[in-house]
Amino acid sequence: MMVTSMVHLSIDLAALEHNYRALRRLCDPGVKFLAVVKADAYGHGLIPAARKLAAAGADYLGVGSLEEGAALRHAGITLPILLLLGILPEEAEGAVGADLDIALFRRDVARALAVAAQAQGKKARVHLKVDTGMGRLGLLPGEALPFLAELRNYPRLEVQGLISHLAVAEIEDKTYTNQQLHEFIRLLAAARHQGWKLPLSHLANSAALWELKEAHLGMVRPGIMLYGSPPAAHRPPPVELQPVMALYSRVLQVKRLPPGAAISYGCTYKTRGWCDVAVIPVGYCNGYSRHLSNRGEMLIHGQRAPILGRVCMNLTMVEVTDIPGVQAGDRVTLLGEDEGQRLSADELAAWAETISYEIYCALGTATPRHYTGA
Ligand SMILES: Cc1ncc(COP(=O)(O)O)c(C=O)c1O
Repeated sequence: MMVTSMVHLSIDLAALEHNYRALRRLCDPGVKFLAVVKADAYGHGLIPAARKLAAAGADYLGVGSLEEGAALRHAGITLPILLLLGILPEEAEGAVGADLDIALFRRDVARALAVAAQAQGKKARVHLKVDTGMGRLGLLPGEALPFLAELRNYPRLEVQGLISHLAVAEIEDKTYTNQQLHEFIRLLAAARHQGWKLPLSHLANSAALWELKEAHLGMVRPGIMLYGSPPAAHRPPPVELQPVMALYSRVLQVKRLPPGAAISYGCTYKTRGWCDVAVIPVGYCNGYSRHLSNRGEMLIHGQRAPILGRVCMNLTMVEVTDIPGVQAGDRVTLLGEDEGQRLSADELAAWAETISYEIYCALGTATPRHYTGA
């Protein structure tokens, strides 16, 4: 990997395709696949990721906002796209105009969609969102059937299915997840008993795709595993996933500091002996978390260089005393592989006390991306 700028964020679209195919193989042939590309494809770039997943065979895409859905349409993506967070009533016209499917859980939005669909001579496709235990978006289970009954007043709305979201599918103990699933299946059966077809009902995130085949239903809806990370850091996935994002930099300066020298804002680190320090031009403005201060590591010459002191806005210092021959201009790997050593998003997440999802979103949206494997 040639790194010609101070900060280089690399996205490997061939790895994204590899992960898609690996996950697809875990599903039965009839099961549809919604690739979650919300939040700028978890920081990997909405349009390049969506194009790659569409070309690889995904059936649906899931986005977070009308803006993301419209951007995909503008880029020529013709796959069905689901707005996972639903819309505001005033967005109904745009959502129908762009032929976007909508997660639905509000009466005012149902009305607005019916009006927009009527005005445009179209149908609006909706997925009724039910809260089976996430405590986030959606109708409570007791509200779902009465809401469906009201939708009979809106012939312009086409109900594709029920959808829900799982709160703890990534942990080993599946008791709570099974409760959510059973509640969902019970509701689905009750709705179908009332004549609703609901062909595309779905709630399986990455963890459920991997470990709970009963939850696949008509469609799975994974995100994080597409981007190469397991949903729970300590549990290796059943298929080989390839990391899609990597972050590189170059050493900007090397200096030797005497014992007792302070490093970075707040003087939170003091050298114990003579210390070789490399200054790296990456900081929290690049999404490189300040929580990595005095905790994280980078790779230089295939060896781990610990962060000394606070991560600054554009700069971070690492110790290279035990790494021979480090010079200004040398390549630095902050996420990814170098000479057989690897820093994963889960490792960065553990240092920063967060999850790989947040590492990807933060790094990916803060720095220009370079694509390979298109
Ligand atoms: C509604 C919804 N479905 C699916 C997903 C994908 O989850 P995961 O990335 O854990 O596979 C998410 C992610 O947050 C989500 O919010």
